[in-house]
Amino acid sequence: MPKTIIEPFRIKSVEPIRWTTRAQREQLLAAAHYNMFLLPADDVLIDLLTDSGTGAMSTHQWAAIMEGDESYAGSRSFERFRRSVQDIFGYKHVIPTHQGRAAERILFGIACRKGMVVPNNTHFDTTRANVEFTGAEAVDLLTAEGRQPALAHPFKGNMDVTALEALIERVGREQVPLVMLTVTNNSGGGQPVAMENVRAVSAVCRRHGIPLYFDACRFAENAWFIRLREPGYEHKTPKEIAQEMFSYGDGCTMSAKKDGMANIGGFLCTNDDKLAQQEKDLLILTEGYPTYGGLAGRDLEAIAVGVQEALEEDYLRYRIASTAYLGNHIAAAGVPIVQPPGGHAIYLDARAFLPHIPVEQFPGVALAAELYLEGGVRSVEIGTLMFAGAAQMDLVRLAIPRRVYTQSHVDYLVEVILEVWKNRERIRGLRLTHEAPFLRHFTAHLEPVGGVVARPAGNTA
Ligand code: F0G
Repeated sequence: MPKTIIEPFRIKSVEPIRWTTRAQREQLLAAAHYNMFLLPADDVLIDLLTDSGTGAMSTHQWAAIMEGDESYAGSRSFERFRRSVQDIFGYKHVIPTHQGRAAERILFGIACRKGMVVPNNTHFDTTRANVEFTGAEAVDLLTAEGRQPALAHPFKGNMDVTALEALIERVGREQVPLVMLTVTNNSGGGQPVAMENVRAVSAVCRRHGIPLYFDACRFAENAWFIRLREPGYEHKTPKEIAQEMFSYGDGCTMSAKKDGMANIGGFLCTNDDKLAQQEKDLLILTEGYPTYGGLAGRDLEAIAVGVQEALEEDYLRYRIASTAYLGNHIAAAGVPIVQPPGGHAIYLDARAFLPHIPVEQFPGVALAAELYLEGGVRSVEIGTLMFAGAAQMDLVRLAIPRRVYTQSHVDYLVEVILEVWKNRERIRGLRLTHEAPFLRHFTAHLEPVGGVVARPAGNTA
C-alpha cells in the first residue's frame, strides 16, 4: 500500500482565491492598521485566522440540508440531531445553541455565582469570559509539560490532578460547581488530553460529588491522538474512544463550528434533569425553543451528519497528518513552534522567532504581518496584543480549516514561512496607536516602530 496520505475526498465545488501583489499587500496592511482582523477576507490568499466555522461541508451534509425541517417545535431535524449527538456523546439531554459560547453562557449562568471557582486545563477566552461574567473565578490547571512550548510530550493538554485536589481542598467542594476539560486544549497549542488523565480527573470529581463537563469542540481530533499515542487504544475506533471519554463526564459544551464540521451551531449536554430544565428555560429566553435553539432545521441536519464524519478514520488520519506535515517541515528548518504539532493548528513561537523585538513591540503581531506581506497568509496573534501583560508567550496561530486546503497549499505555506524565517532579522516591531477598553485585539490599530520598512528592489511578486 502506498505510504502517501492523501486528502480523502475529491472536489465538487471550487471557490476561487485571489492573488495580490506585494505592493498591494503593503497598502492593504497599512489600511488595516497592521491588524489581521481588519483585513477584508477577499484580500487574503490562504486564511488561517481560525478553524471555526470555516470548514468545507460534504455532499452528505449538503444533501441533509435539503431535508431540513423548519418546523418551530418538534422538528424531524431536531430528532436526527439529538440521536446523532447522543450516539457519540451519550448524555441524556441535548440542547442546541447558535454556537459554543451560547452553551457556555447558559451553563455558567445557572451553575456559577460570585465566589465560586471553575477549574479547567486551560479556559478558551470566551469560556473564561463567560465564567468571569458570573463573578466566579476561572482557574487554569494545566500540567507542567503543557507550559513548555519546545518540549515534546504526547499529552500536553492534561490537567494537573494534584493541583485539582489541592484547589478543591483549599476552596471547599461547595465552591466548585463543575470541573471542565478542554479537548483538545486550544489555548495551549491544540494539545490532546489522555484518556488516563480524563479517568483521573473524573475520579477526583466523583469522590467530591462535582460534575465533570467537557469543552468538546475538537473531541474527534483528541480521540485520534489517543488512538495514536495511548497504549490500549490502537485498535479502537475514534467513535469508541470518544464514547468512552464522554462516559467519564456528566455533560459538555460544544461548538459545532469545529469538529461538528458545520459553519454555525453548537450544543449543551447534561445528564442532570433539573439543570436541563433550567437550561431550557433560559434557552427559550435568549436562543429559541429547545428543538432549534437559535439554529435553522437545516443547520441541525448539517451537524447531525458532521459530528459523525469528524470521526471517520480516513478523515482524521489525513487531518492530523496534514497539520503535522506543516509543523514538521518548518521545524526541521529551525523555525520555533509549539511541539509537538497540534490537531487543528501550528503555533509559531514569536519570541524565539524574533528575539530582537521586545515583547512591548508585539513580536507576534509583527510576525503575522510579515506572513501576510510575504505570501498573503492570514494568521492570528495569541500573545501580548490579546492578553496584554498577562501573556506568558507570544504565539502566532496558523489554524487549518477542515477539508479546505490541499497539499500544495500546505507546501506553499511552508515556503512562505521559510522565506520569512530567512529574512527575520529585517522584521521590525510595532506600536499601538488605538485600543479599545476590552478584547482589544479585535479592533486595535498599530504602526511599525520607526516607520514602514522599505523592501529591497527587484522583489515585487
Ligand atoms: N471553546 C473552545 C476551546 C474554542 O476554541 C472556542 C472557539 C469556543 C469554546 C467558543 O465557541 O466560537 O462557537 O462560540 N474558538 C474559535 C477559535 C473562535 O478561533 O479558536 P464558539
